[in-house]
Amino acid sequence: MQTINKKNIPEELVVKVEKLSNLGFGIAKYEAYVLFVEGACPGDTVKIKVGKKNKTYANARVIEIIEPSEYRVEPFCPMQKVCGSCQLQFIDYQYQLKLKKDIVKDAIRSICGHEIEVRDVIESPKVREYRHKIQYPVSETQNSKRIIAGYYKTGSHELVNIKYCPIQPEYCDKIIDFIRNAAQELGISGYNEKKHVGDLRHVVIRSSNYNSKNLVILVMNSTKVFDKLKKLASKLYNELDNVSGVGVNFNSKKTNLILGENTEILEGEAFIEEKLCDKVFKVGAKTFFQVNPESANNIFEYVKKYISDNFEKPMILDAYAGITAFGICLSDIARKVVSVEEVKESVDLADKVIKENGIKNVELHNMDASKFFEKELNTKGRQFDVAVLDPPRKGCSQESLDYALKLTKGKIIYVSCNPATLARDLKYLIEKGCKVDFIQPFDMFPHTYHVEDVAVITIV
Ligand SMILES: C[S@@+](CC[C@H](N)C(=O)[O-])C[C@H]1O[C@@H](n2cnc3c(N)ncnc32)[C@H](O)[C@@H]1O
Repeated sequence: MQTINKKNIPEELVVKVEKLSNLGFGIAKYEAYVLFVEGACPGDTVKIKVGKKNKTYANARVIEIIEPSEYRVEPFCPMQKVCGSCQLQFIDYQYQLKLKKDIVKDAIRSICGHEIEVRDVIESPKVREYRHKIQYPVSETQNSKRIIAGYYKTGSHELVNIKYCPIQPEYCDKIIDFIRNAAQELGISGYNEKKHVGDLRHVVIRSSNYNSKNLVILVMNSTKVFDKLKKLASKLYNELDNVSGVGVNFNSKKTNLILGENTEILEGEAFIEEKLCDKVFKVGAKTFFQVNPESANNIFEYVKKYISDNFEKPMILDAYAGITAFGICLSDIARKVVSVEEVKESVDLADKVIKENGIKNVELHNMDASKFFEKELNTKGRQFDVAVLDPPRKGCSQESLDYALKLTKGKIIYVSCNPATLARDLKYLIEKGCKVDFIQPFDMFPHTYHVEDVAVITIV
């Protein structure tokens, strides 16, 4: 491959942006040298300032748009340029979908290396007010000690105080503003990340799309509840109509993790309710649940239809199950569903839902998926017609894929939020003799580079 000495790359140059990277940067080239340009749309001709140069690539930022791409649009959020959340809001939504399909195809081509059909991305039913899990870091201004809450600027830990965010339900802005003011009045301080001092670190809201109720979790740099905190919780619960529960999460460690181990509910209920495939689920503070419930519903309905079109009363394995959303949605068409999830809170909430709905054919296991697969093989020897695998971003281990193959005789439906690890795992499955029928992407996070995929795999 042709290389270029990084010293020969000018500090400023004009480039034509060719495509979008998997992290949402525009990709341009100076001869063979790759430039990842923040805030650039494929088709743009832009003047850029080149940042720190690595051997084969550098990041860069736009200093002037010389000729805009035909797909550039005016962002609908006034904070888009400063807040790091919606990197792609300046790109036409339909074109975002095409770019996301290209991201998936590129990952398959470069990491998996096999030809796989990638279908058009199914769009999100909502492109605004779609995000139902909000996690705002909280801090305070240096001199006036005013509480601020919002998102970080791209690639930094500089907090942008956000009063209005059009991608989350409007009511959440009201809750956050209420917390800013009430905490200030009560003398609860905002957290200073560098010095590891201050009280309130994050506000986490689980907001229901089904009934508009909200569970608010105050993440505190403390190990126990104190009087002012109790007062804040009680004000939130009593003065805001749609707040159905308030909890405190204790996180006094010097860590980037948002939530600490323990959560205590101070007011109201420990969960909100959400509806998928005509079933009402319970979502708690630490439970995984898709942030875009309407797009999630599309995925669940899609998988349900695919399985019912291809199997008669199948045995289904739901692994990395969370609140067993797939398993419970699929229980109507299955002979039996066996689910496994490592977070106890999620399994307990799934248990409540199956009991309340009188569902008899779902069996829940609170374990590491791989260990459960091994145990299942060595003890019960059950065979599944379909395995739904929906792992976290890091994907599946080879060990768990090997076990899943031994346990399943029909199809694996692999649901992924990370095209790179999906591509890696599909490569492994193909090497083990599987055939990947197709990949169906879904847009769960409009205006970001994220894309969710459903891959259908035949075990040959
Ligand atoms: C992407 S989420 C999917 C959840 C669920 N399928 C849904 O759509 O709501 C991944 C889930 O896997 C769980 N998990 C992560 N690693 C695990 C492991 N080794 N064994 C079992 N569950 C695991 C996480 O707690 C999380 O609930």
